[in-house]
Amino acid sequence: MNYLFTSFIFVEKLEKMTFDVDKIRAQFPILKQSMGKYPLVYLDNGATTQKPQIVIDAITAYYTSENSNIHRGVHTLSQNATTAYEEARSLIQNHINASKSYECIFTKGTTDSINLVAHSIGKTIQAGDEIIISALEHHSNIVPWQFLVEEKGAILKVIPMNSKGELDMNVYAELLTDKTKIVAVTQVSNALGTINPIKEMVKKAHKVGALFLVDAAQSLQHFSVDVQDLDCDFMVFSGHKLFAPTGVGMLYGKESVLKELPPYQGGGDMIKTVTFEKTTYNELPHKFEAGTPNIVGGIGLGVAIKWLSELNLTEVQKYEDDLLNYATVEILKLEGIKLYGTAEHKSGVLSFLVDGLHPYDVGTLLNQQGVAVRTGHHCTQPIMDFYQIPGTIRASFSLYNTKADVDAFIKALNRAINMLK
Ligand code: ALA
Repeated sequence: MNYLFTSFIFVEKLEKMTFDVDKIRAQFPILKQSMGKYPLVYLDNGATTQKPQIVIDAITAYYTSENSNIHRGVHTLSQNATTAYEEARSLIQNHINASKSYECIFTKGTTDSINLVAHSIGKTIQAGDEIIISALEHHSNIVPWQFLVEEKGAILKVIPMNSKGELDMNVYAELLTDKTKIVAVTQVSNALGTINPIKEMVKKAHKVGALFLVDAAQSLQHFSVDVQDLDCDFMVFSGHKLFAPTGVGMLYGKESVLKELPPYQGGGDMIKTVTFEKTTYNELPHKFEAGTPNIVGGIGLGVAIKWLSELNLTEVQKYEDDLLNYATVEILKLEGIKLYGTAEHKSGVLSFLVDGLHPYDVGTLLNQQGVAVRTGHHCTQPIMDFYQIPGTIRASFSLYNTKADVDAFIKALNRAINMLK
């Protein structure tokens, strides 16, 4: 049996290695390339992370020798694919410390997961029921809830933030009422990098009987997250921001909550019995997994999570925090820089503008020097409206970035400013 299959047989506790950025970086082939005459400096990790060789190899191995549909065949290929897919689910379960593997539902990604929850919970929502989100949310954690405002007469409330990009916990406490059905908040802001106090927020929501959904799309690549410790009812994330392929992600849900939720999509795999008169639904997790899924994506996500969980995540977090602090100090040495998102607890993101310059122009000149950043509203238009700006330039970091990346970025930025002024 090839390495892919065997790697899923045992969910073993490996000895944690000491974090060594050079060793990590060497595992990402894409980072070795140049953009013209400049080495690639990839600082768009908030949009998507690069993939380590082990994930790329797993995808190739799957399509080379294992491709088959899952949960359907008696033949060996199908059984092996099913085992690999279900082992991936167990690896993810272990990583987020879910108590059961069937609490982990494969989806297309964060957006799909939130739409699933909003759609299924929506069936029980009545006019006047309240949903709370925050001023820091990505559009994917705003729009699905607005559907329930339009369709069901739900009331959407928003926890405000201050100019540093920190949520107002006093107002949050006031917004919670016995009509609150669900609170849905990001753990780390993709636009500003703010880390929200999720555990404390979950406790408050539960006191009024509300459910809590954590958007972990921007947190899991930076630090470890324990769903039982947070006591959240749902947690959602995307594979591609976690060193895995695009088009796959996860919805974690507490067993007791998922059991009560009606299914999202109908189709194969999510049924137990079908007649023209009546259909009965399958057990968890299959009830929420209609149709042939992104099998190789799920397996790739399992490999990526296994790879990540073998690192010492406390060290990774410290390394990334130091790098962000270094970048913050260095960028403020340039003239005309205004930072957006200066919360006390931050992760991975440096959002800024240069006085008098359009973010798109700065981003274009950075690109010409091999530096990849994102410019624009980052799918968070309400945050940009709060600051009354059209967008920012966002450098977002990951565990393979180095001080040399930061130095190259600052040098290129300085050059861009001088050229544009
Ligand atoms: N949500 C992703 C980002 O922040 C795409 O860039």
